[in-house]
Amino acid sequence: MPLILETVVITRNPDGGHHLVPFGLHAEGDHLIVAPFRPSPTITNLEAHRFLSAAAPADVRVIAGCVTGRRDWPVVPCQAIPGLRLADAFAHAELEVVDREEDEIRPRFRCRVVHQAMHRPFIGYNRAQGAVIEAAILSTRLHMLPPEKIRAEMAYLEIAISKTAGPREREAWDWIGAKIGAALGPAPAPAEQSQG
Ligand SMILES: Cc1cc2nc3c(=O)[nH]c(=O)nc-3n(C[C@H](O)[C@H](O)[C@H](O)COP(=O)(O)O)c2cc1C
Repeated sequence: MPLILETVVITRNPDGGHHLVPFGLHAEGDHLIVAPFRPSPTITNLEAHRFLSAAAPADVRVIAGCVTGRRDWPVVPCQAIPGLRLADAFAHAELEVVDREEDEIRPRFRCRVVHQAMHRPFIGYNRAQGAVIEAAILSTRLHMLPPEKIRAEMAYLEIAISKTAGPREREAWDWIGAKIGAALGPAPAPAEQSQG
């Protein structure tokens, strides 16, 4: 399996605005691969404008926010490509699409790194931040996964939240919990579960 870096990707919209979305970028040699599931505005945008940025957000609320309808996060201009990047990031890369592999489900855009920069020290991991990222991914796969699997994974991830979350991680967790709760409804009582 390739190394997959969970980032916040920004592409340019046809109207000149920008599209901000979490994506896992596959590291292959010197290249990074963006692989959006169809249909996706990111695909349309990259077909029209081949430059994008990818950032490691310093605040996981950006990732949770993007998948719960809160996409208005501060951005700043890129240095070496025409485009924008997330303002509050540990680091970011500015990318250019150099090749495209067709696929009916998930085309792959191969990108070269035009420029990359560090913006603040990264001292260590926090379990709650990891849990928010995992829960955010789960919340974008509600149509693919059985409800009981989602509930079981959320229950496990909540352990890390209860032990290590700060206010930002707690807020991000609550956004995702509300989205998942609205989609799945209340958990069935144990007796109902055993009856199938
Ligand atoms: C950390 C993280 C990584 C993700 N990686 C991908 C990915 O590699 N490909 C994808 O299609 N969606 C991925 N998603 C889901 C998308 O962010 C989400 O479905 C988004 O709305 C799709 O982007 P679009 O608006 O350009 O279609 C990821 C979500 C999270 C939270």
